Amino acid sequence: MVIPDIIIAIDGYSSTGKSSFAKLVASRFGFLYLDSGALYRGVTLFAREERLISRSNVIDPRLEKELDNLDLHFSPDGRLYMGDRCIEPQIRTLEVSSQVSPIAAVPYVRNYVDSILHAYGSKGRIVMDGRDIGTAVFPDAQLKIFMTASDEVRARRRYDEMVAKGEHPSLEDVVRNLRERDYIDSHREVNPLRRAEDAFLLDNSEMGFTEELAWIQGLMQGKFNLL
Ligand code: CDP
Repeated sequence: MVIPDIIIAIDGYSSTGKSSFAKLVASRFGFLYLDSGALYRGVTLFAREERLISRSNVIDPRLEKELDNLDLHFSPDGRLYMGDRCIEPQIRTLEVSSQVSPIAAVPYVRNYVDSILHAYGSKGRIVMDGRDIGTAVFPDAQLKIFMTASDEVRARRRYDEMVAKGEHPSLEDVVRNLRERDYIDSHREVNPLRRAEDAFLLDNSEMGFTEELAWIQGLMQGKFNLL
């Protein structure tokens, strides 16, 4: 199958398995995978470490200027770095998860992340996942997918993922965090989470990787006339 140089945009609610699915697509078709949420998490970690966000999520306006000095980038294997420090484990904690949506609602933070995403996007053959990739970051992406899954499945996945990493969250805290983020992400003023009109819907509540792979292969063949 010869795949053209395209951008695949995957959006959806928290913990719908976007990143696992995006990685599957990237490895199957030889694309670069980019996790836009990691960048919002990176900004959140930065704001926490620099004490520019309070416990009650009040954001210090100095953050805008400080972003000029923030170097976030991905390693070739897709891990997020702040300068020369790999920050993957630190950005996936429940503490960062509980502050990331307020940070991601700030317009200058979105501009900062968008400029990084656009720089990577100009390289072509990219799979990117997030909340506004198909609607705002790359509205002309050649293939858009919107992912959903039931609340129970999403909470269980995120909980299992955190336990596997040695964290001990309560299931209620995980559920609360998913709901809060979904609410903030869908109701913010700038580029809220919504399904693009031309996005294909993928509900993976009852799907494993084999079914997901069959689904995307069918879609790629149909959409790009590939045999
Ligand atoms: O992995 P999970 O689905 O839980 O979230 P994520 O993709 O790591 O994104 C973390 C947060 O960043 C989201 O809850 C959004 O608040 C924000 N985000 C966004 O606003 N726009 C994006 N394109 C990606 C993430």
